[in-house]
Amino acid sequence: MNELTFYECDICKNLVYLVNDGKGKLVCCNQPMTKLEAGSEDASHEKHVPALTRDGNVLDVVVGSVEHPMIPQHYIMWIATVQGDHVQFAHLTPNDEPKASFNISPGDVRVYAHCNLHGLWTAEA
Ligand SMILES: [Fe+2]
Repeated sequence: MNELTFYECDICKNLVYLVNDGKGKLVCCNQPMTKLEAGSEDASHEKHVPALTRDGNVLDVVVGSVEHPMIPQHYIMWIATVQGDHVQFAHLTPNDEPKASFNISPGDVRVYAHCNLHGLWTAEA
């Protein structure tokens, strides 16, 4: 299954994904964590939806079709891919470009990107 489930703490901004999907409630800072819903359409000039270029086993990701800012107050924190049981993360800093390249296998790939201000975004190639 090419989907990941993310939860965030509204207080401290801890962010996790479910490696195993148990039935328990995730709690942080003494309150339930919030399940993140990934956006796939962005009204603000498409600067959050990952733009994907696939060439053989290489997937180049840029966030987004209009490059997202990368300043300490507002930046893309990470980009992730998932293909079945294979999950990859590229962690970014404000000094990086909002880009990452991944080695992938044949078949569908799901991509996620996370903005520190505007949350979770996704696209599929
Ligand atoms: Fe943003």
